[in-house]
Amino acid sequence: MAPPPEVLKDLQGDIWPGLGKSHETFFLFSITKPDDFKRRVKTMVDENKITTAEDALRKRAQNRDPHQAGPEAGINVGFSPKGMQTLKWFSREDLGRGNTLTNRQFCDGAATLALDQGRDIVEDYEPWMAAHIKGTKTIHGVFIICGDKDSCEKGEALVSKMLGDSIEHIYSLKGSVRTGEAKGYEHFGFRDTISQPRLDGWDKEDPALSLPYKCRPGVIVMNHPGTNGFNEDVGQWEPEWAKNGSYFVLRKMEQDVGKFRDHAKKLAEDKSLGLNLKPHQLEARFVGRWHSGAPLEYFPKEDPARDKNGPQWDFGNNWEYKEPIDELRCPYGSHIRKSNPRNNFGQSAHNKDKSLIMRRGIPYGSDYSEATKDEKRGLLFGCYQSNVMNGYACIMDRWINNDSFPMRGSGQDVLVAQPIKGAVSESDKTLHANLYGLDEDGNPHALDSNNEPPAHKKKRCDFPGFIKIRGGEFFFNPPVSFFGRMVEKL
Ligand code: HEM
Repeated sequence: MAPPPEVLKDLQGDIWPGLGKSHETFFLFSITKPDDFKRRVKTMVDENKITTAEDALRKRAQNRDPHQAGPEAGINVGFSPKGMQTLKWFSREDLGRGNTLTNRQFCDGAATLALDQGRDIVEDYEPWMAAHIKGTKTIHGVFIICGDKDSCEKGEALVSKMLGDSIEHIYSLKGSVRTGEAKGYEHFGFRDTISQPRLDGWDKEDPALSLPYKCRPGVIVMNHPGTNGFNEDVGQWEPEWAKNGSYFVLRKMEQDVGKFRDHAKKLAEDKSLGLNLKPHQLEARFVGRWHSGAPLEYFPKEDPARDKNGPQWDFGNNWEYKEPIDELRCPYGSHIRKSNPRNNFGQSAHNKDKSLIMRRGIPYGSDYSEATKDEKRGLLFGCYQSNVMNGYACIMDRWINNDSFPMRGSGQDVLVAQPIKGAVSESDKTLHANLYGLDEDGNPHALDSNNEPPAHKKKRCDFPGFIKIRGGEFFFNPPVSFFGRMVEKL
């Protein structure tokens, strides 16, 4: 099954089904001549240079490996709130009441809330980001260029040539999937992009991967069933012209791999905690999966991939937390339990999928080693959703950074939480994970006589924060039909 042909032609392919890539360039630009820009980008569409879902499906049929790029780059485009203003496609004055994008988080931009909360630190921002928030070089949009190294370079050259002096190139963020044994793994050493929502009626049914990740397409793509919880697919929430668009969140997240490993070692060696965990077992508790990707919920003691003769995990994703109140196997503060609580808390069945996001990140920088430890590395985090408030902002602000989610005293997300500069609330002064180790036989602790996890065995582990946000923005990646409408208004 696939979406109707008119949707396939209108939807940009990176949103769904995704563009094949071993390399990716985020080409950030400012619009200098808006009318000229509109005409030129429309020419790109007419010459088939913006990759639609239909094109992406065709490429996929020829090549099943998402890390393997075809000979030609896939190119998509999105606009920041300031970019939409520059295109005169934003404010009520420009478009009339009820006809502009509504999402407050998008309108505010990525830095606003994070800086207000003291989570993003201006001093951590790279120069292109600092210039963006100061307004000296404003990012109006991003071309997302996916391919191999060569095709990404050609894609960049093509964008520059076709848009000429209607834009000013600000900066290119470049990522590439890791190679050899590290292929498919992020820099902390964990297999990544295992869990991804399957769009109901669009993606092929796959019993291993479907529930609970079957997600209404409108959770990711605007104005389809599921957008903001609604089940109808017409003109609700976002204006009619935005149908088949999606909000794209791009954040450059630098990972401190040395600090991450050293800290796991320090906690493992801390006799006062007595967790009875080796460093790799602690690291797995930070993520909620073992390095191989096997979930702790099913394998709380050891990574099944370490023992070729032991029980093996097939990397399917069709599982839930067996006893939601039981954190003895997988801590509440683990990254995957924070960012997708699955059956963990009382979301209505109807809106269970409301905060799912389509992740499209790619690592950047060199592999960590003794020789390269001072170099920079991390994740160019990207995700799509039809509502930033329900997607990224909810996950980051209400779940990952909140020590009371999903339960009081859960601790923050060890992998991604950001400390708050000058925090006043006790719970925010230090980042901490409250977690259980293993008993002296190397098994998860047993429930107590009241059938509850034994609270006195749960240990508070402080951690310093292992990522730094170097920059990024929220974008609106419009439907392809948007470009036709833009030139009609000229
Ligand atoms: C440097 C930053 C990050 C790293 C290294 C990282 C790493 C990982 C890893 C290793 C997994 C498990 C594999 C998988 O299921 O795909 C994962 C899952 C996930 N991450 Fe992240 N992540 C980062 C940032 C974020 C952010 C900022 C968000 C959202 C705001 C996020 C949302 C998710 C979600 C939704 C899942 C799937 C959880 C599930 O369904 O079980 N991640 N991430």
